[in-house]
Amino acid sequence: MKALITGANKGIGLAIAKSLGKSGVKILVGARSESRGQETVKKLSSQGIAASFIKIDLNNFDTIHNAAKEINELDLLINNAGIPDSHKTDQPDLDQKKMISDYTTDDLRETLEVNFLGTHEMIKVFLPKLVKNGKIINITIPIQPNDFWHPLAYQTSKAAQNVMTMAYALEFKNMHSEKQIFGIMPGGVATDLNGHTAGALDGYIKSAEEAGEIIAKLALDTENHNGQIVQFDGKIITDYEAQIH
Ligand SMILES: NC(=O)c1ccc[n+]([C@@H]2O[C@H](COP(=O)([O-])OP(=O)(O)OC[C@H]3O[C@@H](n4cnc5c(N)ncnc54)[C@H](OP(=O)(O)O)[C@@H]3O)[C@@H](O)[C@H]2O)c1
Repeated sequence: MKALITGANKGIGLAIAKSLGKSGVKILVGARSESRGQETVKKLSSQGIAASFIKIDLNNFDTIHNAAKEINELDLLINNAGIPDSHKTDQPDLDQKKMISDYTTDDLRETLEVNFLGTHEMIKVFLPKLVKNGKIINITIPIQPNDFWHPLAYQTSKAAQNVMTMAYALEFKNMHSEKQIFGIMPGGVATDLNGHTAGALDGYIKSAEEAGEIIAKLALDTENHNGQIVQFDGKIITDYEAQIH
């Protein structure tokens, strides 16, 4: 079995690679930096995991098309790479206190380009490479704004990604395809993306390793998750309403 994981050089992506790799899945380490990707391959190989590097930069679609030329067949495509709000334009970490009115068009464009358009291109390009019963998994977040969680660019980009997940799932179903596409919400995970502070509000911060294990388990189970957005505890998320009142 072969899995391509984007953003596999650190955080949740690396943890998914380790968990799947330990189950015998061959890992294609998608990373935008060759040195960080190759370093990850070394790390995984030293743990007995079959891994190789493949350059994928969601801001550069040529890398996606070139990567596809090197891959004949895939069992799992895991779209993990993603950025929070204002990654370049404002500050490195997710700013949960940012006012909605302070978002710029550039903030929105930058985040949508990576999380939505980049993921869309990955799916479009790699779908023909997916085996008959292959799976596409998109790593996602809660997209209902509430008092504690309303990063506009990040949530909007992942909401668009979720809609795409469901639209592809509908098409798979209507075409009687055995392929599946679904989203997994790992919940708050301490990584560079949030300055290792995620989960502070509910007092529970998951490690990347815990998240990786949950995601690998869902990726390898025999259930039909097509079209679902599955939370870390197995709950299927169907509520998309904002928690305003
Ligand atoms: N952490 C959480 O609490 C949490 C919760 C729910 C969902 N998620 C989702 O989980 C995924 C992984 O997040 P994480 O927490 O592990 O974050 P992370 O530690 O910051 O890792 C993000 C990964 O994405 C890569 N990446 C960023 N921009 C890219 C681009 N343009 N092209 C290719 N790769 C790119 C990064 O590569 P570089 O190393 O080169 O920057 C890195 O490998 C994201 O989609 C995120 O939205 C995270």
